[in-house]
Amino acid sequence: MATAKPAREVNTANVNQIPIAIIGATGYTGMELVRLLSFHPGVSIVALTSRQQAGEKYGILNHTLEELDVPKIAKKVKGVFLCLPHHEAMNTAQEFRSWGVKVIDLSADFRLKKVETYEKWYGKHTQKKLIQEAVYGLPELHRAEIASAKLVAAPGCYATTNILALTPLLAEKMILPHDIISDSKSGVTGAGRSAQVDSLFSEVNDSFKAYKIASHRHTPEMEQELSIVAGEEVTLLFSPHLVPMDRGILSTIYARPTRKWTTAQLLKAYKKFYKNEKFIKILPEGSWPATKQVRGTNNCLISVLYDARTERIVITAALDNLTKGASGQAVQCFNLMFGFAEEMALTQTALIP
Ligand SMILES: NC(=O)c1ccc[n+]([C@@H]2O[C@H](COP(=O)([O-])OP(=O)(O)OC[C@H]3O[C@@H](n4cnc5c(N)ncnc54)[C@H](OP(=O)(O)O)[C@@H]3O)[C@@H](O)[C@H]2O)c1
Repeated sequence: MATAKPAREVNTANVNQIPIAIIGATGYTGMELVRLLSFHPGVSIVALTSRQQAGEKYGILNHTLEELDVPKIAKKVKGVFLCLPHHEAMNTAQEFRSWGVKVIDLSADFRLKKVETYEKWYGKHTQKKLIQEAVYGLPELHRAEIASAKLVAAPGCYATTNILALTPLLAEKMILPHDIISDSKSGVTGAGRSAQVDSLFSEVNDSFKAYKIASHRHTPEMEQELSIVAGEEVTLLFSPHLVPMDRGILSTIYARPTRKWTTAQLLKAYKKFYKNEKFIKILPEGSWPATKQVRGTNNCLISVLYDARTERIVITAALDNLTKGASGQAVQCFNLMFGFAEEMALTQTALIP
């Protein structure tokens, strides 16, 4: 009888590999990190944590989930990915930083530069000093700062889509900064893996709904980053929607032009702005992105149109909320922080169908 192949060993670090830990490894972003980092030749996963499944084997990996014990893990790793809910991440980030470990936090805890803005949208912040040390982890805007950062705040999934979609037009002053409407639709994994009535199959399947219109928590980080790009205050009306699919975000954004443009002029601005970006794909005139085209990839597809009849610019952008919207982007930041090629472990093509 053939003997079974031994499970893949993940906890013996090669000298050339960076030992890392994933904190909150049983959630959707944690599992996506394991998937992506399994392709990364420069990484050794040495710890995966979970409170509820501590002691259990982790999927196909020869690794046992463990409780979060910061001193024990910090002694073994150089970098950690925090895949915890907001509020849970901030103190854990501080503890790892006190051990000199570089932190990539996927929660919202260090994305907002103004403490009062964080506290208005999320509640009390207990690690205020660390906020200024954190770099907003969108490589297309903050590449050099991320490369030297010790603490990176990976952006939200909706935020990544909308910031990438609007940046070239605001940078080139082609749209008015106070008349922007984003109508964004997300798959259900955007809400995380914990049991909630709103995410049940019978609530979500065969339905399509808007939620948190003009009050979603990604609004302040989008306005923060877009205001930096524009050099003036940007306000955005943000309308999120829930779509009965697992992964993906599609945003349709409406903006007023600063003067009459042609679609060709707008496309030229996007191509110029993103000419060296490997993960941003500008679609030809008349093509519109679909979430299936980005599933499991770190790409963001963008299309733009000037509608002369209504004097509006319409931008459409698609990405995978778990990849470019979360874990893929976190790996992109990790690569910059540890001196790897930025696209390492991130060159997968879309999983179709
Ligand atoms: N889902 C997305 O598309 C997405 C995109 C961008 C950013 N994010 C952000 O990334 C972070 C992780 O998101 P996710 O979707 O992976 O969440 P999730 O699926 O709910 O997973 C959360 C993970 O954290 C652990 N955990 C530890 N303490 C916890 C606590 N007090 N409450 C709940 N879970 C706790 C959970 O395992 P145990 O309960 O066993 O400890 C689990 O492994 C969040 O801050 C989220 O906002 C998510």
